[in-house]
Amino acid sequence: IENGPPKAEIITLTSHVLSQQQRHQMATGDLTLLLTAIQTTCKFIATNVRRASLLNLIGVAGTANVQGEDQKKLDILSNDIMINSLRASGKCAVLVSEENEEAIIIDEGHRGRYCVVFDPLDGSSNIDAGVNIGTIFGVYKCEEGSTGSIKDVLRKGSEMQVAGYCMYGSSANLVISTGQGVDGYTLDNGIGEFILTHPNIRIPSRGKIYSFNEGNSLFFHEPVVKYLESIKYPSNGKPYSARYIGSMVADVHRTLLYGGIFGYPSDKKSKNGKLRLLYEGFPMAFLTEQAGGLATTGTQRLLDVQPTDIHQRIPCFLGSKEDVEDLLKFFQ
Ligand code: AHG
Ligand code: MN
Ligand code: MN
Ligand code: MN
Repeated sequence: IENGPPKAEIITLTSHVLSQQQRHQMATGDLTLLLTAIQTTCKFIATNVRRASLLNLIGVAGTANVQGEDQKKLDILSNDIMINSLRASGKCAVLVSEENEEAIIIDEGHRGRYCVVFDPLDGSSNIDAGVNIGTIFGVYKCEEGSTGSIKDVLRKGSEMQVAGYCMYGSSANLVISTGQGVDGYTLDNGIGEFILTHPNIRIPSRGKIYSFNEGNSLFFHEPVVKYLESIKYPSNGKPYSARYIGSMVADVHRTLLYGGIFGYPSDKKSKNGKLRLLYEGFPMAFLTEQAGGLATTGTQRLLDVQPTDIHQRIPCFLGSKEDVEDLLKFFQ
C-alpha cells in the first residue's frame, strides 16, 4: 500500500472518452452526452442494488417479459430508469430492451442519432442472494438518412459504435469499448465518478477456467460435450477449474480479466441457446474481441450474425483466443 496523499491526477470515464474522441477527430460531444446518461443510469441502479433489501426491492414484480421470464422488481425499476434517462439525453432514436417486447422509437422532440440496445439488469436470478449482477449495453448510430427505425438495430454486432457493461459487485465496475480497446472504470462513491482503474484490458491468450452451466449437460450436443471432456480430463493431467455465477456480466468480467472460456451453447432443448443476440451476445462479443479474445456461435464469428428479430437468441462462446480455438476444433 502506498502512503502519502491521494493522487492529484484522476482520469474519469467522461474525460477519457473525450480525449479518445479528440484523438480520432470525432468529438461532436453527442457520444459523450449519451455515455453520461448511461453512466448516470448505472450509478442509480448501483445505489438501488445496494439498498435492495432495505427498500423492499427484492422479489418478483408479478409480470412476465416477452421471453416468458418472471420480471423482478429490480428488472422493471432498472429498465424504467434507463429508458427515462436515455430519452431525456436527447441523443437516442431507438431503444431496445430485454424488458420491452417492441423497440421504442423516440419522439421527435427528444430524438438523437444513436440507438441503444440493453439488458437493464442481467443476472436476475442472483438478485435476492446478493450475488453480482449487471447492466449490458450496445450502441449503434442511425444509418445515413434514417430518423430511427427497427432497421437501425437489426444490424451486425460488428457495426456497433460502443459496447459495455456495468457490474454491480463489491464495487460498481463499468467496462466499455468505443472500438479502440477496452477500459475498465470503478465507481468512486465519494465523488460519484467512474475512475479509470483498468486501462487497456487485454484478455490472456489462454486461461485455466471454463464457465458453462453444466447442469444442462444432458442436452448438450457432441462438440460441446467432447470439448468439456478435453479440458476436464486432459492428457497433461492439469484440468481446468469450473466457475459459473449465472450472471453473464460477472462470468464475462472474470473471463476478460483472468482468461478462459465462457459458453452458453444451443442444446437439444434450446435450439438457439438462451442468451439474447442484440443486448447480451453482441456487446460481450464486441468487448471480448476488443480485448484480444474471440467470440463465436460455434459455426460463425458472433459479431457477423445478421439479426432478424430484436429478441432472438444465439449460442455464445467467448474468451481467450487459444481456448476458443480449441473449442472450435470440436465443431469442425
Ligand atoms: P437475465 O437475468 O438478464 O434474464 O439474463 C440471464 C442470463 C445471463 O445472465 C446468464 O448468463 C444466464 O442467463 C444464466 O442462465 P442459466 O440460469 O440457465 O445458467
Ligand atoms: Mn431476464
Ligand atoms: Mn441478461
Ligand atoms: Mn436482464
